[in-house]
Amino acid sequence: MKALIVYSSRDGQTQKIAGRIAQNLAPQQLCDVIEISQTATLDWAQYDRVLIGASIRYGHFHPALMKFVTQHLGELQQRVSGFFSVNLTARKADKCTPETNAYTRKFLAQSPWQPDCCAVFAGALRYPRYRWFDRVMIQLIMRMTGGETDTSKEVEYTDWQKVALFAQDFVQLPGKSL
Ligand SMILES: Cc1cc2nc3c(=O)[nH]c(=O)nc-3n(C[C@H](O)[C@H](O)[C@H](O)COP(=O)(O)O)c2cc1C
Repeated sequence: MKALIVYSSRDGQTQKIAGRIAQNLAPQQLCDVIEISQTATLDWAQYDRVLIGASIRYGHFHPALMKFVTQHLGELQQRVSGFFSVNLTARKADKCTPETNAYTRKFLAQSPWQPDCCAVFAGALRYPRYRWFDRVMIQLIMRMTGGETDTSKEVEYTDWQKVALFAQDFVQLPGKSL
């Protein structure tokens, strides 16, 4: 049986983290990594574990996240499952756990699916790639929260060690009988 990693990513960082988790799992666990909009014809019979990753934009996960969860609730509940969220707030040490990261806490409170493990990863700040409006808005937020304001910069805050540890926790969760 394989593990399924479904991700929702706007600028590629959540996709990159999903890919890294798949790499970390590779010695022990076969894995498919699929973008959330490409999941209409999923063959669930292949998978006994599922991980969902999603990023935040202007305070919200993409609506496709909750849609996927409600559409596939039964399949998710039967399997070993995990969730990870990606955002810039999580670059701060006091906002990088499921309990202390407001977006993640809110999602878990609202979601009918409760994953067996959960992590929050700091994302990336890539000013040169943003369109003008987003660049100005993110710079404003960074100014208010003491972050990088130089719009010529790209900063990756993701803690890859934390990602690797989460992948290990996920693969070591005891299986469920399907
Ligand atoms: C337009 C825009 C809005 C964002 N809004 C938020 C936000 O409200 N809170 C936050 O913590 N991070 C915010 N971020 C940071 C992203 O969550 C971060 O860049 C993450 O790495 C994006 O992941 P992705 O590339 O997989 O979409 C925002 C980024 C952009 C470009």
